[in-house]
Amino acid sequence: MDLLCVRRLFVQLISAVLLMSSKHILALRVDITPETALFGLGERQQLVCLFQGCTTTPSVSWSFLGDRPLSGSISTNQTCSVLTFEPVKMEHDGRIQCAVSCNGNEIKGSRKVQVYSFPSDPVITGQDNVKLGVNSTLTCKAFNIYPDEEVNITWHSGNAILQTTVEDTESGAVQSVYNFTAENMDQGRNITCRVTLKLKDLPDDKRTRESTVPINVLYAPVVKTLESKEVMAGSPLTLTCLAEGNPEPTITWSFRTADGRTLQRGQGSQLNFTAVELSEAGRYECDARNTEGTNSSTVDITVHSPPTNTSLSVIPGEEVVEGQQVTFVCSSEGAPLPRLVLSRNGRELQSVDRASTMIFDLPYALLEHSDVYQCVASNLYGSQQASSSITVRAHPLQVEASPQVSAARGSALSLSCKASGCLHTPILLTWSRKDQTVLQTTWPQDGLSVLHLQDLDLQDRGEYSCQAQCETVSRSRNIQVHVYSFPFDPVLENPGPVLLGEEAVFRCDVINVFWVNQLRIQWLLGNKMVAEKLFSFSSFLQNVSFSLHHRVDEDHQVLTCSADLLQEGGELWRPKRTSIHLQVHYPPRNTSLLIRPGEELVEGRQVTFSCHSDGAPAPALVLSRNGMELQRIKPATSSPLTFTFSPILLEHSDLYRCEASNKYGSEVASHSITVKAPPRNTTVHILPSTVVQEGQNVTVCCQTITIFYQWNFPTGQSHSQRLWVIPGQRDQ
Ligand SMILES: *[C@@H]1O[C@H](CO)[C@@H](O)[C@H](O)[C@H]1NC(C)=O
Ligand SMILES: *[C@@H]1O[C@H](CO)[C@@H](O)[C@H](O)[C@H]1NC(C)=O
Ligand SMILES: *[C@@H]1O[C@H](CO)[C@@H](O)[C@H](O)[C@H]1NC(C)=O
Ligand SMILES: *[C@@H]1O[C@H](CO)[C@@H](O)[C@H](O)[C@H]1NC(C)=O
Ligand SMILES: *[C@@H]1O[C@H](CO)[C@@H](O)[C@H](O)[C@H]1NC(C)=O
Ligand SMILES: *[C@@H]1O[C@H](CO)[C@@H](O)[C@H](O)[C@H]1NC(C)=O
Ligand SMILES: *[C@@H]1O[C@H](CO)[C@@H](O)[C@H](O)[C@H]1NC(C)=O
Ligand SMILES: *[C@@H]1O[C@H](CO)[C@@H](O)[C@H](O)[C@H]1NC(C)=O
Ligand SMILES: *[C@@H]1O[C@H](CO)[C@@H](O)[C@H](O)[C@H]1NC(C)=O
Ligand SMILES: *[C@@H]1O[C@H](CO)[C@@H](O)[C@H](O)[C@H]1NC(C)=O
Ligand SMILES: *[C@@H]1O[C@H](CO)[C@@H](O)[C@H](O)[C@H]1NC(C)=O
Ligand SMILES: *[C@@H]1O[C@H](CO)[C@@H](O)[C@H](O)[C@H]1NC(C)=O
Repeated sequence: MDLLCVRRLFVQLISAVLLMSSKHILALRVDITPETALFGLGERQQLVCLFQGCTTTPSVSWSFLGDRPLSGSISTNQTCSVLTFEPVKMEHDGRIQCAVSCNGNEIKGSRKVQVYSFPSDPVITGQDNVKLGVNSTLTCKAFNIYPDEEVNITWHSGNAILQTTVEDTESGAVQSVYNFTAENMDQGRNITCRVTLKLKDLPDDKRTRESTVPINVLYAPVVKTLESKEVMAGSPLTLTCLAEGNPEPTITWSFRTADGRTLQRGQGSQLNFTAVELSEAGRYECDARNTEGTNSSTVDITVHSPPTNTSLSVIPGEEVVEGQQVTFVCSSEGAPLPRLVLSRNGRELQSVDRASTMIFDLPYALLEHSDVYQCVASNLYGSQQASSSITVRAHPLQVEASPQVSAARGSALSLSCKASGCLHTPILLTWSRKDQTVLQTTWPQDGLSVLHLQDLDLQDRGEYSCQAQCETVSRSRNIQVHVYSFPFDPVLENPGPVLLGEEAVFRCDVINVFWVNQLRIQWLLGNKMVAEKLFSFSSFLQNVSFSLHHRVDEDHQVLTCSADLLQEGGELWRPKRTSIHLQVHYPPRNTSLLIRPGEELVEGRQVTFSCHSDGAPAPALVLSRNGMELQRIKPATSSPLTFTFSPILLEHSDLYRCEASNKYGSEVASHSITVKAPPRNTTVHILPSTVVQEGQNVTVCCQTITIFYQWNFPTGQSHSQRLWVIPGQRDQ
């Protein structure tokens, strides 16, 4: 404050004409111009000290009051002395006196020099950092202004004065701070800072300096909400992002891919697509950024497309080895996601709605899977198809086994299975039953596996499977094991003798048969089939019998019971037969009595009788003559009965009977013989005596060797005679 007071003291300008009281020079005067010495700092200014009344060139000295040293150039001639400040400095501020000595007289004048500085317009700062809605500070600074206590700073907007404040700062500057909260309407408003140096003598054009700045209200971007779009694939598309902000925001586009990644897609308010691709569908984000912040907005782009890029790929490839797993992958792009249908020869295998990929597995490729497969993708906008063909090559693995085996119950059976064609690994051979029961598992080096079945029973029959496994490929053969039971020949009991012409019953039994429905029993007489029987199904062992009612009408018959197990087709398969000779009995027949050498028997010759008879059992033969048994043959001997007269005599002439008999009856054959001899010893005999009673039968016999007469006279018949004349014999 002291300094200021001192300064104020200096401010009072004093124009002085120092009239020195001098007896010599009354006219000596000193004038200092200019009267108002308001010098701008840095300028070139002069003080002129005019003096009058000195006849010689006076000595002139310039100095500050108080003997401060003074800088400046001085030029003096007879009429004036000029003090030149080049340039005016702060130190030049003060009262300067001009002392003139002329002829021993000294006269002084002084002039107050006021130095001021106001070299430049004020500087406004902070206008570029005005943020919307935030207290902002504008600072107006005036530099190198002097004297600064005389400074007035006002803020203007248009004609309105906003604020009047002044602050001192260090280093010779004054400033004013204007605080305000920026609003939207402030944008672009001109704000003026006017600085006035209130020195009375300062001309107006130098008193005031001002600066005007437009206010730049900074604010973070605001992005206008974007509208979602739907387009067809291939069409052009432009996305526009409208973003306001100060400073002008930079806009970047990013794309969120389906798998969650974010891709940068360019800069600028517009994002152009010449032809939208399906893969470009999704969510786009427009990101506006400036120094004040960021703002963003998203837009969903929906791209519609008929199915494209439809493909059907086959893993492991179109050439497949039997047994491999084959995977079909059908994929297509399209929006909305298409329906995928995989088919083979028009027959659908699998389908899925709204998918880009469909997988179909054939876990085990078979030869018959070789074909063309098609995948059709379709949606609202169209359809597309792709096809692939696969060729399944046969795996060289082969299995051999006989398809059918038959074995008798109780027997042992070996089933063999031979596999080949597995190149690198041993073959796994597995025997199993139809119900999946595993019976045996082997890895034979030679590929041969034998399954031994002991003591077969009915439950062992059925299907056996031999499965060969080579890597992933397996093949199997089924063996049908037929277990049959037909252990015994048919039993045909001999009924013993049967009587010819009578009906007899024969019974044939077959036991423990399986399958009984494949059994056929036939009765054969000789070779002729007379009866047949088939049986109905049974799943157990069966005992069956078949009876034959037969009227025995021929002898020496062979009766056969033929039991045949047939194959399914009906062909004969296992025959068994039992035959019996029928013991046909019948009473004697065809009994004959033969005489040799014929009917002409001459006495003295040998004559043989032979008797035959047929009969069963063989009949006993009895040859008799006149009730007198000549010879007998017991039944057991079947040879004919013979009886010989040797020689034969006349008296052997007689009736001979041969009776054949067995338990069913008897038959007689008879023969009369007449022995011939020359007639002699003819005699007559009267029987019973020569004396007979009337009515008594009398037999008169006339006998010769060669003829034999016999008469019979019935008693009671008088004179009646009977005469038998043996043929060839003559009455004498
Ligand atoms: C003295 O100097 C002033 C200013 O330089 C000039 O105008 C004047 O003529 C000079 N006088 C003489 C006698 O030289
Ligand atoms: C801004 O300044 C005004 C007045 O100077 C004051 O009332 C207000 O609280 C300030 N606001 C903030 C956010 O500083
Ligand atoms: C500054 O000047 C303005 C106008 O010229 C006036 O209204 C104000 O009072 C002055 N302030 C001071 C401190 O002199
Ligand atoms: C202006 O704001 C600054 C900081 O924000 C503060 O220091 C100063 O006092 C304020 N001046 C006025 C006049 O409000
Ligand atoms: C701000 O000042 C500039 C230059 O002086 C002028 O061109 C502009 O129009 C002014 N702005 C307003 C809003 O007055
Ligand atoms: C986008 O297309 C519009 C007109 O369709 C064009 O004016 C603009 O320059 C294009 N922008 C770019 C980045 O290609
Ligand atoms: C963008 O700005 C608007 C308006 O200020 C605001 O509502 C929105 O939440 C902002 N969005 C983001 C992502 O910052
Ligand atoms: C079709 O697929 C190929 C290869 O995967 C890809 O390069 C191409 O872009 C796809 N085309 C369409 C229209 O998606
Ligand atoms: C069949 O006959 C045999 C022998 O007589 C006997 O052991 C068996 O039990 C019989 N079987 C049936 C099913 O009757
Ligand atoms: C007797 O035997 C013959 C010849 O063998 C035969 O033709 C005839 O039929 C038999 N007579 C009788 C009753 O059997
Ligand atoms: C014939 O008869 C006589 C006496 O009667 C007898 O002796 C004789 O033997 C007989 N002759 C024959 C051949 O019988
Ligand atoms: C005599 O013979 C006849 C015929 O042969 C017989 O019928 C009759 O009874 C016999 N008479 C006597 C008494 O024997």
